[in-house]
Amino acid sequence: MNPPVWDKIKSRVVIERSVRVEQLNTDGWAMTYLLVCESSGKAALIDPVWDNLSSYESALEGLDLVYTIATHTHADHITGCFSLAEKGCEYVMHKGSPCLGVTRHVVDGDEIQLGNFALTFHHVPGHTSDSLIVEVSGHIFTGDFLFTGNRGVGRDDLLGGRIDQHWDSLAVLKRFPGDVLVCSGHDPPGTKMQSLAWNRENNPILTMTSPDQYRQWQETTSADLGSVSNIKTALPANLFAEIPENVPWLN
Ligand SMILES: [Fe+2]
Repeated sequence: MNPPVWDKIKSRVVIERSVRVEQLNTDGWAMTYLLVCESSGKAALIDPVWDNLSSYESALEGLDLVYTIATHTHADHITGCFSLAEKGCEYVMHKGSPCLGVTRHVVDGDEIQLGNFALTFHHVPGHTSDSLIVEVSGHIFTGDFLFTGNRGVGRDDLLGGRIDQHWDSLAVLKRFPGDVLVCSGHDPPGTKMQSLAWNRENNPILTMTSPDQYRQWQETTSADLGSVSNIKTALPANLFAEIPENVPWLN
């Protein structure tokens, strides 16, 4: 056997088993993830923020952006998905999403290919009825279904939210091994993402044993958070896939 050839084969296999993942937002609590299949140059964005689209351009240079994915109907910011879809990529959401402009709907268990990698979708209603986890190569992108550690989960008192559904959807996490990295949709800037095993010990929601405990946590958290400041602009924009003439937080 010729060792150099074997080494080449081994290194190719190693490269193809990993996907490049970058979190692109440098400030604010919203996370946007870029996924890149290095061998094909195909890329996907998860939860791009419309305000930040121009800042993503350098990261996307030379890549073939094929999918832009919204983990759910966002209420706190305008998604960049429909604007990116106008440039030719597919806009992916759950089949039950009320949002206009979506070009590809998925249901629980669906897979779509990103170059050499499969993106697998898991339906986790509760924060919204259309909430998804996106799974790829040792990562789960949980949107507002699950945050890191003490931050718990997203609130269930906004459009389409249901406390009992969110509690039931936590069972979906049994599908994943403990070493998957939980990449959340919101956390303070600079938060280090942690494994599911770590979250099982450090996220209070995952240590709860009864739906009543969960309901109490949700009710207290929603009362503490109060109203969502951007909802009256962001939610209609996302539902109708239209940027309003006036975006108050940009004035
Ligand atoms: Fe959300």
